[in-house]
Amino acid sequence: KGVNLKVEEEEEEVEDLEPGKVKVAVFFGTQTGTAEGFAKALAEEIKARYEKAVIKVIDLDDYAADDDQYEEKLKKESLAFFMVATYGDGEPTDNAARFYKWVSEGEQREPWLKQLTYGVFGLGNRQYEHFNKIGKVIDEKLSEQGAKRIVPLGLGDDDQCIEDDFTAWKEQLWPELDQTLRGEDDVNTAATPYTAAIPEYRVVFYDSTTNTFKDNSSIANGNALYDIHHPCSVNVAVQKELHKPESDRSCIHLEFDISGTGIIYETGDHVGVFAENCDETVEEAASLLGQPLDLMFSVHTDKDDGTSLGSSLPPPFPGPCTLRTALACYADLLNPPRKAALLALAAHASEPDEAEKLKFLASPQGKDEYSQWIVINQRSVLEVMAEFPSAKPPLGVFFAAVVPRLQPRYYSISSSPRFSPNRVHVTCALVYGPSPTGRIHKGVCSTWMKTSVPLERSPVCSSAPIYIRTSNFKLPADPSTPIVMIGPGTGLAPFRGFLQERLALKEEGAQLGPALLFFGCRNRRMDFIYEEELQNFMNQGIISELIVAFSREGQQKEYVQHKMVEKADQVWSLISQNGYLYVCGDAKGMARDVHRTLHTIVQEQEKVDSTKAEATVKQLQMDGRYLRDVW
Ligand code: 2AM
Repeated sequence: KGVNLKVEEEEEEVEDLEPGKVKVAVFFGTQTGTAEGFAKALAEEIKARYEKAVIKVIDLDDYAADDDQYEEKLKKESLAFFMVATYGDGEPTDNAARFYKWVSEGEQREPWLKQLTYGVFGLGNRQYEHFNKIGKVIDEKLSEQGAKRIVPLGLGDDDQCIEDDFTAWKEQLWPELDQTLRGEDDVNTAATPYTAAIPEYRVVFYDSTTNTFKDNSSIANGNALYDIHHPCSVNVAVQKELHKPESDRSCIHLEFDISGTGIIYETGDHVGVFAENCDETVEEAASLLGQPLDLMFSVHTDKDDGTSLGSSLPPPFPGPCTLRTALACYADLLNPPRKAALLALAAHASEPDEAEKLKFLASPQGKDEYSQWIVINQRSVLEVMAEFPSAKPPLGVFFAAVVPRLQPRYYSISSSPRFSPNRVHVTCALVYGPSPTGRIHKGVCSTWMKTSVPLERSPVCSSAPIYIRTSNFKLPADPSTPIVMIGPGTGLAPFRGFLQERLALKEEGAQLGPALLFFGCRNRRMDFIYEEELQNFMNQGIISELIVAFSREGQQKEYVQHKMVEKADQVWSLISQNGYLYVCGDAKGMARDVHRTLHTIVQEQEKVDSTKAEATVKQLQMDGRYLRDVW
């Protein structure tokens, strides 16, 4: 019966379309909400311009229950847009992963998507090696399957101004859409620019005697499924500094207590942590808003006409809560404001001069000024508000349009569940230092970890909502397979988990294959984290060799890749014996340099030319024997 119902629903959907109307699907693959916001903005703009368009905004994960359904449903689309972000090492967002796998692995065959016209806008960052890989692949694959590209692939670059890239992409799109969607009565052509209304929540205030509601508790019933929308609140059991006293930086070892929560994880997985902004930041924000911290309120989106368009508002956060909670838990206060945020501030600036200046910064003419004054100077939204004191948006505008939702931060888990089933360990470098304007920038989550109070020190300990994000950064199934691990700095984290796992395996009687670990830090006396533990792993035969590059001990910088070159024959011999190579850490510098070094090593060891070496490295990647966990 269920199946029948489903078919009926779908038929109804098609029938629903009035004659002369055109169905438009806007898909998004989002992690932090930017792609989703763009999808909704595109949908609203299409709706405002074209009477004919019947638009749906669709989360890629919600679109189809399985791969066959993707095909079935896509065949019924006529016009579709894809707003898709690329992360880390050229990875899709979690909600696009299944669709991406299906699309990218689809075999060459008779083009079957000829009825579809599509456009792709990718969200990425040019600083990364695999810039906009997901957008590029989806664009190419759809075309290969016969779909018709209505507009060239948009390559949004978050290193510059991604809003401008999006605007430029849309400017190319309108003339094309005019041809297919423009009705006789549509006056909104490409010549009349559409300006989006400033989104706003409806706000309800409460007197402060009402109970507050803080959404970080999930029922620990042993079989709860936690995800980004349903994190589980856990206590901090252990917190300690890993750097030695001589170091002027900080790296925190933290253990979350997951006993009784039903949370399970695997070695190599990531943990998403919802930290809170520190008091100083929260207090500054409240004062800039001119509102008391104990003000009780809740925010609401009033779903207007029940259309599936969705509003460009982010989903409201749970309430009622105090302004303190809202600012601490739900507001990204330290990133530079987007242009849309400047416009929202301008709309609520009582001084006309300030409003004009804010509008200028958000305008095409103010592009260079925005780039210099905001982006390059890393001016936080709070700093901007301090410069424009008359801009005091109401809370409904502030939370809907000025500050994005505070996002979870992800860490490679540094423990193994075999060794530590009730704890999730995190190894976190403190982000702390002056920004170009002289503000001391303190990373939200690392600052929270640095100041968190563990249960072992106080019964009133710190807690945070967390959830596990699975990864494919896993040890080989057979423990006797050789492995080479490269992880300088906090890139060591997942390897600590690997080594704990190997220790547990060995104790169960497994035969361990050889394991090389390359670690790098500045100076043995300062930031050689987990030194003693690594030594113990060596002594127990869990690592066959530990090779450390100290970058600031001698005259010359020594990096892990220099050590790899010194050990080239050994590294290559292990990999050649069906071994696995793992790299974890910074993507923009270290992982890229290590990748180049690997290429050189293959070339020299195999005595092949550059093209052949590249193919060998690619094959390793395809076989899942060269894995990277980079950020
Ligand atoms: P540095 O800070 O002295 O330059 C962990 O952060 C270690 O990685 C540090 O010793 C750091 O050295 C080093 N590191 C910085 N850039 C790197 C790169 N491109 N490749 C390899 N290691 C790097």
